[in-house]
Amino acid sequence: MTQHQTTVLLGAQWGDEGKGRVTDLMAEEADVIVRFSGGHNAGHSIHVGLEKFALHLIPSGILHPEKRNVLASGMVISPEALLKEMDALEARGLSMGRLYVSARAHVIMPYHALLDRLEEERQGAEQIGTTLKGIGPAYTDKVARRGLRMIDMLYEDVLKKRLDGGLAYTNKILQGVYGAPPVDVDEMIAYLQPLVRRLAPYITDTEALLHARYRAGDRILFEGAQGTLLDLDVGTYPFVTSSYPSAGGVCLGSGLGPSQIDAVIGVAKAYITRVGGGPFPTEQDNAIGERLRSLGHEYGVTTGRARRCGWMDLPLLRFAAQVNGLTGLVITKLDVLSGMQTIGLCTHYLLDGERLELPPPCIEQWDRLEPVYEEIPGWEEDLSAVRRFADLPEAAKDYLHRIEQSVGIPISLVSVGPERAQAFRL
Ligand code: IMP
Repeated sequence: MTQHQTTVLLGAQWGDEGKGRVTDLMAEEADVIVRFSGGHNAGHSIHVGLEKFALHLIPSGILHPEKRNVLASGMVISPEALLKEMDALEARGLSMGRLYVSARAHVIMPYHALLDRLEEERQGAEQIGTTLKGIGPAYTDKVARRGLRMIDMLYEDVLKKRLDGGLAYTNKILQGVYGAPPVDVDEMIAYLQPLVRRLAPYITDTEALLHARYRAGDRILFEGAQGTLLDLDVGTYPFVTSSYPSAGGVCLGSGLGPSQIDAVIGVAKAYITRVGGGPFPTEQDNAIGERLRSLGHEYGVTTGRARRCGWMDLPLLRFAAQVNGLTGLVITKLDVLSGMQTIGLCTHYLLDGERLELPPPCIEQWDRLEPVYEEIPGWEEDLSAVRRFADLPEAAKDYLHRIEQSVGIPISLVSVGPERAQAFRL
């Protein structure tokens, strides 16, 4: 798909763009596949023949036995969730021999998940709608410099020192803010011990590993999780995740520098979805949205929640192209749009009568955005058996060209179903 040595593949919307199936395809041409941000809030479903794999932490490259798979330093990792995923994959005959976990990645502890839930409950109607996996609280501890890193777990004295320090603060918050019982350091050490024993062989200096593989000429694929609009800095703050799923996060989260990144591919659905709270200008909270949800199976891989669905939003895609420096686009789930008489394509917004080509930074203004749609003629044909761009109905080709032209980035791949074969290049 790309002749580059290093390629970033990331979500250009609010996550769930179908990145897993695209990484799985691109992984065929890569030697190393790297996750650089987030944790087990992600859920990638990949279909191989009749088998379906749901991955949360481990890169999709694990399905290719000869590839190296790296969980890099920008991630927050629950040892318990990671081992569960490893066990489930091993039970299906996959080898974990080429899995590498960053020594510098931060650890998600059970009290992070507890804090996530308590804080969502405290916020009530204002809640973010997080995945409740402890992602935000783990990154909060990291930024506040009281976090626990993977490497710290390997040394008993360091582990105790870190937990003593971190929990001295966290217990005050648990008790004082939430009225919850404190967490016991020794209990946490006892909880971690069996997990650490099993994970220790996988924990390594992944920055060094990645540089060595880069120097050796390996092709490296960075597999994004979540999406650009969930990015802590460029996303729809505060309705975001606590990490950097955008292209900037690749360097922060892996240890390679910007000059070592050759291509940045953004994945977008042919429509758009969002899970959790927050503004959503092109949301179709009606029969159209329901149709997209049921035909697109828009239910979370991680939480099972129904996704909110809407029409393709070009201002958001243009924004994603800019902030990520996209060099290519992948459009997934084009098949889901079959049978629509017309398809709404949001070309720009009006804000108090003013035309906007890009979203405004003030989230409070988003509720007043009026999406302006171009009504694109639909097509009746089922696309699931199409294997070449040339065989798409003219209306579907026009729709893709309109997106390409409006965003100014070439579409390199289109998918029309979850199977490996249901994707073709342009
Ligand atoms: P958190 O990442 O669990 O803190 O959740 C913060 C926001 O990001 C919520 O709106 C979640 O629904 C959303 N989110 C987190 N991970 C994903 C994902 O993989 N796909 C889609 N939305 C996600």
